[in-house]
Amino acid sequence: MRNSDAGQVHCRVAVPADMAACAAILNRWIDATPWMPRVHPEDDVERHYRESVFESGPVIVADCRGEIAGFLALSGGGHVTALYLDERYRGLGIGAALIREAKRRAETGLELWTFENNRDAQRFYEREGFVPVRRTDGDNEEGLPDILYRWRADPLREREA
Ligand SMILES: CC(C)(COP(=O)(O)OP(=O)(O)OC[C@H]1O[C@@H](n2cnc3c(N)ncnc32)[C@H](O)[C@@H]1OP(=O)(O)O)[C@@H](O)C(=O)NCCC(=O)NCCS
Repeated sequence: MRNSDAGQVHCRVAVPADMAACAAILNRWIDATPWMPRVHPEDDVERHYRESVFESGPVIVADCRGEIAGFLALSGGGHVTALYLDERYRGLGIGAALIREAKRRAETGLELWTFENNRDAQRFYEREGFVPVRRTDGDNEEGLPDILYRWRADPLREREA
């Protein structure tokens, strides 16, 4: 993926057929991340994405000429439950485009959890205007310390239709 190809990516709402690709991106990230334990087998992750993540959506996908480059999953109340790009699509501004799309849909703001180990993601979220508001010692399935980040919408902003 070259920088110039990033313009070929467009963000759209996911359909059920996209969920296998989203689960595969997450599964690849888990396997490639040394500090990340695998707590669910790959098939269970895919079923969870089809049955639960899609249902509580919307899920926004970054579509690059028909290939899913990455996705952002939202659930009620402006909670971002997942944001993952496949490795070759990182560092090109696609994550920022997905966050922009989530902000556009947010009523009052967005919240998300990230692992303390994930320093690259923290730098990204802070650059996108998120601030850390809470930390845990590992109160999650993985048992890893994590951080709650929040972004507050400007109540006076104009929202696109
Ligand atoms: C974190 C992530 C969503 C950011 O999206 P992105 O499209 O790569 O980010 P952008 O191009 O919009 O912005 C680049 C910034 O992202 C961050 N970043 C995180 N991981 C990165 C990577 N592997 N390559 C490049 N930038 C990365 C950096 O802060 C970078 O800023 P810098 O240029 O100052 O170093 C994406 O890199 C990703 O999917 N990473 C792996 C999965 C992950 O950690 N998800 C977050 C779970 S909470």
